[in-house]
Amino acid sequence: MTTAWQRKDLLSLRELSADEIRKVLSTATVFKEILGRPIKKVPSLQGRTVVNLFIEPSTRTRISFELAAIRLSADVVSLDKDSSSIRKGETLQDTAKNLEALQAGTIVIRHRSAGAAHFLAQRLKASVINAGDGSHEHPTQGLLDTFTIQERLGRVEGVKVLIIGDIIHSRVARSNLWALTKLGAKVKLVGPSTLVPKEFAELGVEVSHDLDGALEEADVINLLRIQHERQVQARVPSIGEYATLFGLNSERFKRCKKGVILMHPGPIHRGVEIASELADGANSVILDQVTNGLAVRMAVLYLVSGGKGIGGES
Ligand code: CP
Repeated sequence: MTTAWQRKDLLSLRELSADEIRKVLSTATVFKEILGRPIKKVPSLQGRTVVNLFIEPSTRTRISFELAAIRLSADVVSLDKDSSSIRKGETLQDTAKNLEALQAGTIVIRHRSAGAAHFLAQRLKASVINAGDGSHEHPTQGLLDTFTIQERLGRVEGVKVLIIGDIIHSRVARSNLWALTKLGAKVKLVGPSTLVPKEFAELGVEVSHDLDGALEEADVINLLRIQHERQVQARVPSIGEYATLFGLNSERFKRCKKGVILMHPGPIHRGVEIASELADGANSVILDQVTNGLAVRMAVLYLVSGGKGIGGES
């Protein structure tokens, strides 16, 4: 690895260069190899404290950040909204400053407000990692999805990626499109016009409202759920109608390339955006994404901490 990582924080993929994204992916490859060993732990973050501050629900991201910190030998603690003094009216800034006073070196934050991670990063000496902020970005999800595509297909450049669903509310879609386009993939966003406005085309991707016309060319299909928690108004007439028009089912799947890979960041709504038999089928890499998330989050924790101490890498 030759490119140095200079950042204290990981806040968005929009602001990363292609080389910085490649640096995370190549570091994650090293960690994935370590995770395959009998002893899956390295001392890289010994003495560093990582705090997971999750003000929104999470299964995958929170557990994988916790495990990543443990595998790097950091001290790790997690705090959620319901068990913190945020419920008693403490501000996010005061909460984070108190965590820093307890010598947190890295704060991983998930928050329902876009910009929450940037807000903290500007006010703290600690490293801040964005674990999802509102509809803005979910950078480690974008990185693990890109890692999974590279691992499965051997490249990202030139790969045709279809992202289907509730794009307007999706931080996953935004982080994916930044990482993938920076590495040369061809990204197409598909869904109803209420969830996939044509303005997304200004970000260097194609926009389509015709799923059946887009399936044949895709090397990768990434399906997103309808984000009811972020719907400010009803944008689809009904879930049943959405599933009929934009759900990937076995009939539609016949139009896809034989080797297409099916992705989903989770949580899955089976029978809505993807049929159960496809989610669990041979083309699905949904659980590989989760496994790869651990290596990618180890890489991110390691890099924002200075990136010294694994296998001679620096
Ligand atoms: N993909 C994802 O962010 O899942 P969680 O909400 O469970 O963390």
